[in-house]
Amino acid sequence: MSERIDPALPKAELHLHLEGAAPPAFIRGLAKEKSIDIAGIFDEHGGYAYRDFWHFLEVYEAACTTLQTPEDFRRLTLAVLEDRAADGVVYAETFVSPDFCGGGDLVAWREYLQAITEAADEAERTMGITLKGIVTPIRHFGPEKSRPIAQCAAETKGHFITGFGIAGDEKAFHPKDFTWAFDCAREAGLRLTAHAGEWGGAQSVRDALDHLKVERIGHGVQSIDDLALVDRLAEDGITLEVCPGSNVVLGVYPDFASHPIARLREREVKVTISTDDPPFFHTTLVKEYEELARVFGWTEEDFRAMNADAMRAAFCDAATRDRIL
Ligand code: ADE
Ligand code: ZN
Repeated sequence: MSERIDPALPKAELHLHLEGAAPPAFIRGLAKEKSIDIAGIFDEHGGYAYRDFWHFLEVYEAACTTLQTPEDFRRLTLAVLEDRAADGVVYAETFVSPDFCGGGDLVAWREYLQAITEAADEAERTMGITLKGIVTPIRHFGPEKSRPIAQCAAETKGHFITGFGIAGDEKAFHPKDFTWAFDCAREAGLRLTAHAGEWGGAQSVRDALDHLKVERIGHGVQSIDDLALVDRLAEDGITLEVCPGSNVVLGVYPDFASHPIARLREREVKVTISTDDPPFFHTTLVKEYEELARVFGWTEEDFRAMNADAMRAAFCDAATRDRIL
């Protein structure tokens, strides 16, 4: 029998896409308000429907077409934070893509950012959840587009925008193509992460570390196929933002039992647990913890330790970290 994990256990979540956390009913509501026909992205139960990872990205982008104004993003941020707070999340970091908020235009981005920040401030006051933002170009949109996005990030680094990352199709382009964007973000003082080792194998993780000089890796789970890399992650204290349910639903691994998170942890890699795009994967952080407890016998003490590691790797200031830890 696995230990029951208290659903109210305070949690930190480092890997969450703002648009990917949009409840399907919320997106349907926006589509109706704006007369946008995206009925094809939903299944008969009203959930998001997609065949595989690449189709998932298309459905994701179709859902994003309904998010048009700063007010849409204000409402989205509040809806997402309500769900996270109900999951016991007290600290979250969210990927937010100027690609979907003004397309890299700095004036427009500031307006979207103000709306998102207002919602985050309101959620902190009313729900006790703290949110930080990681500006994230979309890799398959190409290196050229990543440059104005990095400039948007650099110009708006502050209380809310604390990090820079990259998401999207990991097999598109090479990390080398994004060094300009990452250098720009680093020089502005932003903390860095990159999606790697979800689909691109262990080499993709090595490339992200070597070329983008990130301190965290989004997913990174395929590092398990290269034990020298696993040792490097452990020695260098690189934190992995692991999203087991996402990996299982998208077919990176067939089930939780074959997921490498426990093996990575046994080899002293800092692993943390997140949901990625929870409604797309029919998951919540509570469900992730329950499944990990059932399959690997992890206890509340294990989850507390992983949450402490998450806060140590969080892209926030020391005062926020100390308040939450
Ligand atoms: N964007 C949203 N979810 C993603 C994932 N799991 N991998 C890459 N890009 C994403
Ligand atoms: Zn992700």
